[in-house]
Amino acid sequence: SAATIPQARGPDHTAAFLCEGYHYAPRRFEQMNTDAFTTRIMLRPVTCVRGPEAVEMFYEAGRMTRRGAMPSTVVALLQDKGSVQTLDGHAHRVRKEMFLDMMDAMRLDEARRLFREEWRAAVSGWQGREIVLDEELDVMMTRLAMRWCGIDPATQDVERRATELATMYRAAGKLGPAYLRARALRRRSERWARHLVRDARAQAKASGVLGTLAGHRDADGALMSEEVAAVELLNVLRPIVAVGRYVLFAAHAMHLHGAGDAGEEADRAFAEEVRRLYPFFPMIGGRVLEPFDWHGARFDRGDWLLLDLHGTNHDPSAWSKPEAFRPERHLGFVSQPEAMVPQGGGSYLQNHRCPGEWLSVAILTEAVSQLRLSDRSVPEQDLSLPASEFPPVPREGLRMSVAPPAP
Ligand code: HEM
Repeated sequence: SAATIPQARGPDHTAAFLCEGYHYAPRRFEQMNTDAFTTRIMLRPVTCVRGPEAVEMFYEAGRMTRRGAMPSTVVALLQDKGSVQTLDGHAHRVRKEMFLDMMDAMRLDEARRLFREEWRAAVSGWQGREIVLDEELDVMMTRLAMRWCGIDPATQDVERRATELATMYRAAGKLGPAYLRARALRRRSERWARHLVRDARAQAKASGVLGTLAGHRDADGALMSEEVAAVELLNVLRPIVAVGRYVLFAAHAMHLHGAGDAGEEADRAFAEEVRRLYPFFPMIGGRVLEPFDWHGARFDRGDWLLLDLHGTNHDPSAWSKPEAFRPERHLGFVSQPEAMVPQGGGSYLQNHRCPGEWLSVAILTEAVSQLRLSDRSVPEQDLSLPASEFPPVPREGLRMSVAPPAP
């Protein structure tokens, strides 16, 4: 169907994609001097696109669905049946509003305060020893996520939940035994989350995110089923734990490039540059609902597209020196640039753009400010990030020592 869009050579590119990871599509965009090419992945024809124009095309309201657009293995760990990402149109909008309503300024400030408390408590436990930041962040961010959702960590098995939630986002890009283990852990998490929803409904006194989920009414006026409410609770808890990976990236960046200027605006810009530069979600898939023409090619109902999120964050036509870490580029903006899509693009309400984006930025901005205040030292180690892990982490999980700020 895509007549004027060049075709990448070779029968099927699944292996190339898994092996080249984040570099897969950008290499071919460069080689073919294009922002769109067609190929086959998992034996299905697909059009890979990047850049601001592609973002606009991809996020036109009503044009795409996420159903059947991502490998089912990824969906089962990250979103699952009945979740907001599987909905379209009015049903999606009503459910999405529930998530967006969780993100008012007070709740974002609350998340920052919780990060500050958890970080300081953790740092005081790290005195006199070297830590592996990656491991420490799982429990810390799980406690933060629970507290932000109105679940008291003192009444919970935090270690166990931390393992489950962290494994879901870490294993989403994996296949084989690691994937199967993550599925088993996910089932255990779902049972736990269903139990919380049931309790919240029985007592009718839950507040915060848990209370919102328990009482939310969908487009049909009905409460969500216990299963779906549990899935959506995990869809808040799990990605908050995943923000820990961005915190690790911020520590990585601060070690390599220095802390730069202090202050709220500089901290936010640092956080934004971490989200732009570091690899997280490689691509997002969409299947066409409403046929359209683009770049002289016809896209029919059911056609499959992959928007290269990471490639768009690094698009040389949209960013100067895209591989350089330059927080200044985010200073003083009024609205998010179209090529800034680490958590998706387009409209939050009319499309699938991540409703947790402001929350992620708030937590990460606080993390940058806390990292800056802490006395950090990072011993000699391999700091490279493997391109074929989604998302990657340095081999040793970033070993470091952290001391509280001098009094
Ligand atoms: C959707 C990334 C944090 C909740 C998404 C999407 C991406 C993404 C790429 C899909 C966008 C699309 O389909 O067009 C991330 C990253 C995060 C993060 C990299 C940080 C590590 C969060 C947080 C929350 C959250 C903190 C918690 C509230 C969701 C939900 C959706 C979503 C519910 C589905 C939205 C919909 O289908 O309308 N996220 N996210 N995410 N995210 Fe996030």
